[in-house]
Amino acid sequence: MRFRIADNAVRSEADYVIILSAAADMSRRDGGPMTEKLKRIGILTGGGDCPGLNAVIRAVVKTAAYDHGIDVIGIENGFEGLIRDRCRPLSPGDVSGILARGGTILGTSNKDNPFRVPIRENGEVVYRDLSDEAIRIAKRHGIQLLITVGGDGSLSIARDLGKLGLRVIGVPKTIDNDLDATDVTFGFDSALAVATEAIDRLHTTAQSHQRIMVIEVMGRYAGWIALQAGLAGGADAILIPEIPFHIEKVAEAIGERIYSGRSFAIVVVAEGAAPAGGSMSVRDMIADSPDPIRLGGIGNLVARDLEKLLDRETRTTVLGHVQRGGIPTPTDRMLGTRFGAHAVKAAVAGETEVMVRLRGQVVETVPLAEAVAKLRRVDPEGELVCTARSLHTTFGI
Ligand code: F6P
Repeated sequence: MRFRIADNAVRSEADYVIILSAAADMSRRDGGPMTEKLKRIGILTGGGDCPGLNAVIRAVVKTAAYDHGIDVIGIENGFEGLIRDRCRPLSPGDVSGILARGGTILGTSNKDNPFRVPIRENGEVVYRDLSDEAIRIAKRHGIQLLITVGGDGSLSIARDLGKLGLRVIGVPKTIDNDLDATDVTFGFDSALAVATEAIDRLHTTAQSHQRIMVIEVMGRYAGWIALQAGLAGGADAILIPEIPFHIEKVAEAIGERIYSGRSFAIVVVAEGAAPAGGSMSVRDMIADSPDPIRLGGIGNLVARDLEKLLDRETRTTVLGHVQRGGIPTPTDRMLGTRFGAHAVKAAVAGETEVMVRLRGQVVETVPLAEAVAKLRRVDPEGELVCTARSLHTTFGI
């Protein structure tokens, strides 16, 4: 539920009683009286890391301290810290010098869900709902509101804790850029820069050896990294989950290019891309993860088939976690900073169960339930795909 702090212009004792009982009522549903002054908030980073997380933490701690005199408690390793009580105070001094640093100073985890905690009992793993205990730990530390920086998995957990009465605000992050409720997530721009540079580097070696170079990039079920890095890097083929491909069509387009004198080619493949009528390549299943499927392997399959069909030496590069590491771009530092500062402002204004987001040029909030409801995927008829096709880039259809 979304609410703002009520106007506290109490004029008579009767008014006061009415407001207090309304606040008590709200507090049962929303985790705290609306008029309670915010003195301490918690922050955690959950799910896969990405460049820009430290910018959010820094902005939250500094805005809270300097603008509002609010203390911040950092919770370590995502929701694990809330289940196992690993919390520490964060002062402005603690977050000094972290803006340009990749990863997260708090640590993260994409396994720990307080609603489904694996516990070994009599030699067997059983799953327990420890969400009440997690909320008790937060309250014991005096945390009145929890800022959760995460992707759809962590934000869904935050939403569910919100329903149990903990006041929560979400901040979206992911290199995949696949949350529909925000125009962009921080982390994406840095991953895009890494993937584009990798394509640039592959160009020169591809040219020297007259090879077909296949590069597999991340993105889960969305093709944003592949599409935009492919466009920025001038790829000859881009294969994305939203457009099932025919390998013969890819080979035809690359063959035309090679036999017309361009002796090499670059093929960008999203990890979630799949052939028409086929399925995505699953590399691994991670037990206890809210999203257990780890994609990977399609790059090698595409390379193998192209080598056979075109009789041309082919090599594969799987870019992997390099896309998530390293220093954030200025764009991601800016976005993380704006999101962090806005999350504190929303908290002070009494908002809860909302996520900050960027719409156009404006940072604002949206109800958390709405924010995690839909993934944002590439429109196969959209402007970016059409632009790539105008430049003769094939999508294998
Ligand atoms: O969601 C971010 C992401 O990097 C995806 O692009 C990728 O599929 C996944 O996380 C990898 O997860 P892990 O770090 O658990 O291997």
